[in-house]
Amino acid sequence: MTSAAAVAEGRVAAGGGGANHGARHVAIIMDGNGRWAKKRHLPRAVGHKRGVDAVREVVRAARTMGLEALTLYAFSTENWRRPEDEIAALMGLLKHFIVSDLDEFAANNVRLKIIGDYKAFAPDVVELVENALARTAGNSGTTLAVALNYGSQAEIAKAAAKAAAKGTITPESIEAELDTALLPPLDLLIRTSGEVRLSNFLLWQAAYAELWFTEVLWPDFKPDHLQEALDAFAQRERRYGGR
Ligand code: IPE
Ligand code: IPE
Ligand code: MG
Repeated sequence: MTSAAAVAEGRVAAGGGGANHGARHVAIIMDGNGRWAKKRHLPRAVGHKRGVDAVREVVRAARTMGLEALTLYAFSTENWRRPEDEIAALMGLLKHFIVSDLDEFAANNVRLKIIGDYKAFAPDVVELVENALARTAGNSGTTLAVALNYGSQAEIAKAAAKAAAKGTITPESIEAELDTALLPPLDLLIRTSGEVRLSNFLLWQAAYAELWFTEVLWPDFKPDHLQEALDAFAQRERRYGGR
């Protein structure tokens, strides 16, 4: 699919109405777990744990709202800069989440996808992830794309190198090699916790996405907030440079 075709397709879908007002692909930078915990004088790991609960609810909501794809930023290439114990807690939660929620995904036609270089994680995490990918590969409902060890600049550099190896570097040939190549065009990018930056997430894909920021800390993010963002999205006029 060419870039222009992807854009046109996104525009048609955006005006198409329906329960989610036409958004096909929503991405979320799930930020604020640490501050949520700090406010309560709890360890950061508790914030991350409550963050996983928020993930579960939001995935369910995305499914019932009929989103084709939900992409969640779970671990960035820069998050390796965090203390070892926090990284270990995050890995533990990731493993636990896969074990506890895989049956629900499988039963509800959710297809799991990973963007980012998850193979750099510990072998037990990689094995669990690959098992979950295999188990949901045949599903045709909502795609849950989880960004693990993901950095957009590295993704783009890798895609450009692959495109070059095949002969041509164009926006279309690069786009076709991105980790998100098989997902619908990104419609809406949400960031929680009041930070207003992209933190190396979906830089290419966000070119014409609508952006929505909220002060809500990720563990407090509920399906109603997703609905609020989709309602705001429905009011936006997407022009793609035209008039
Ligand atoms: C987001 O919450 C979760 C990850 C980045 C893994 P943070 O841990 O960044 O929370 P804050 O930003 O410190 O509040
Ligand atoms: C972005 O949040 C990464 C994830 C949500 C996984 P960070 O908390 O790492 O981002 P910065 O450091 O505030 O930009
Ligand atoms: Mg943060």
